[in-house]
This record gives sequence, structure tokens and C-alpha cells, in this order.
Amino acid sequence: MDIRAALKEGMAQLRAAQVPSHTLATELLLMHALGRDRAWMYSHPEESIDPTAAERFVALIARRAAGEPVQYLTGKQEFWGLEFEVTPDVLIPRPETEHIMEVALARLGERGIKIHMDTGAPRESLRVADVGTGSGCLAVALAWELPHAEVFATDISAPALEVARRNAARHKVADRIHFLQCDLLTAIESANPARGGARHAVAASTQDRPQFDLMVSNPPYIARNKAGQLQREVRDHEPHAALFGGPTGIEMYQRLIDQARDLLRDRGILVLELGHDSAEHVRGIFDAQAEWTKVAITMDLAGIPRVLAAECVR
Ligand SMILES: C[S@@+](CC[C@H](N)C(=O)[O-])C[C@H]1O[C@@H](n2cnc3c(N)ncnc32)[C@H](O)[C@@H]1O
Repeated sequence: MDIRAALKEGMAQLRAAQVPSHTLATELLLMHALGRDRAWMYSHPEESIDPTAAERFVALIARRAAGEPVQYLTGKQEFWGLEFEVTPDVLIPRPETEHIMEVALARLGERGIKIHMDTGAPRESLRVADVGTGSGCLAVALAWELPHAEVFATDISAPALEVARRNAARHKVADRIHFLQCDLLTAIESANPARGGARHAVAASTQDRPQFDLMVSNPPYIARNKAGQLQREVRDHEPHAALFGGPTGIEMYQRLIDQARDLLRDRGILVLELGHDSAEHVRGIFDAQAEWTKVAITMDLAGIPRVLAAECVR
């Protein structure tokens, strides 16, 4: 089998299985099976594929046709221009989550805090948290953009944190990220480096808690009873702890916002991704608490309210 024939056959199989973006999926899987890039592949259409690579490709096409997402088959996904390892233990980072990065960096930028690309200016030291880090895409991208930030990344899932740790190492920011397995922010009190590091006992008082400049989260926000409406790729393959936020999908926001309020410093920023129909409810939580100001919602490219940002006043 040569490259042209493999592409043709792969595309036909994925089209027949009604796989969305079947052309792109076939290309990515053949590139992965061959260990080659797109330019090489299209400049060698008549190159014959060795039997081992051909076997690998056939198996990958069969798994994709059966519903496995391409990213779990190739083990990678790009986020914020950085390549992340992904496994079935973590949510595949979505393009819309990059709005969290844009909003967070824009809010810091308004205060003159410089990001990676700006050279020459003095760098602020910042304390940042990413709640429900999954692959670590937000924690790593923020650490990468904010070279003087110390980042705390939490997740309830130990296997997800392992993937996040590897992604931090891959992008050389592991020395500035503390990974904590806990429910939302509950382990942060015990992780105050000023009091002896990540394994310290739970802080005795509120004064002992670290104070954060920025907190971000893309929490699980899909309602349990909406599972049937999800694409099979998502429902059958992505971790349920990353998808479902409870019976209505909005359960996690109240606890998350309460905990963030206690840990942010004066003018500390909270940036949250919103579920499809959760904007009104989440906005209501902020409106009911006197400590929040500058509450604003950003739409995604499809016009859906996607990210809410607010600042905490003390
Ligand atoms: C929607 S995923 C987001 C992953 C990643 N931040 C991203 O944007 O791609 C939500 C993450 O929150 C984690 N999670 C779920 N419940 C949690 C809880 N109670 N406390 C901490 N993390 C939780 C899941 O394991 C999952 O990794």
C-alpha cells in the first residue's frame, strides 16, 4: 500500500462510519503511523508504506471509526500554541478554553503586568491557581506566559495530575507548578510554600493561607441528564469527572467561587469557563456577594457566553 492509497482507503472508512472531519482525521492518523509530517506525506504520494506502519494505520483507523477521538490515538493536542500530551485520563483541551488565557492575560495586562513576549520590562512575581487542571493546559500555558509566576494546579484525579506533571516538564515549567490532588481548592491551605511547602499540615488560620493574584478554572459543567446529547467521542471516551458537574451541571460553581473569594488577594482576578446555559446562574452568584467587582462575560466565536471574569475586593 502506498501513501495515496492509504489516505483514500482511510478516508473512505471514516466517511462510511460518519466520523466528523474524516479527511483531517485520516491525515493525522497516517502522519502518526508513519512518524512523518504533512509536507513529507503529500510530497511522497507513491512511497510504499512498510508493513508495520501499515498495520498501525489500519488499527488506528478502526479505532477512530469505532469512536475514539484522534487526540487519544495520537496522544497529543495543541493548546495556546504548545503541544500537550493527552491520554483518556484527561479532557482534550478545547480551543474555546483559550478564551480563559486571553481574558486572564488581558486583565493582568491592564495593570501593566507583562507577559512572555514582552522583554525588557521588570517581571512581577505572581501567585496563580488552576482548579481542575486536567492535562495542565491552562497551568502550563500560564506558567509559560508569566515567567515569574508560581502556579498551583489542583485536580481530583491522580492520573490526570500525572499527565499534567509530564506536560509541565515538557514545557520546562515544572519547577514553578505545585500539583495538588484535592477537591477544588481545599488543599491550598496546606500548600503554602511560606510555611514549609506542599506537604505542610492544613493552615491554622486564614492569615496562613496563600493569597492569589489570579485563579482560573474550566470546571466540569455538563448536566448528568444531558449525557445522551453528547457526541459519542466525548461521552464514551473522555473522563466523566471532567465532563459532569452534577445533576444540573452548575453545582460546582458556587463552591468554587466561595473558595476562590477566600484565597484571592485584594484585586485578585478569577476567570471561569461557563457551560452552555450557565452564564445567568453563575453571574447571579457573583452579584449576590459584595466582594466581587468588574464582573464581565466574554462570548466565544459562536456567540455563546463562554468566560466570566471578576475581581475580588477586600
Ligand atoms: C473540564 S475539565 C478541565 C481540564 C483542563 N483544565 C482543560 O481546560 O482542558 C475539569 C477537570 O476538573 C477535574 N475535577 C472534577 N471535579 C473536581 C473537583 N471536585 N476538584 C478538583 N478537580 C475536579 C476533572 O478531573 C477534570 O480534570
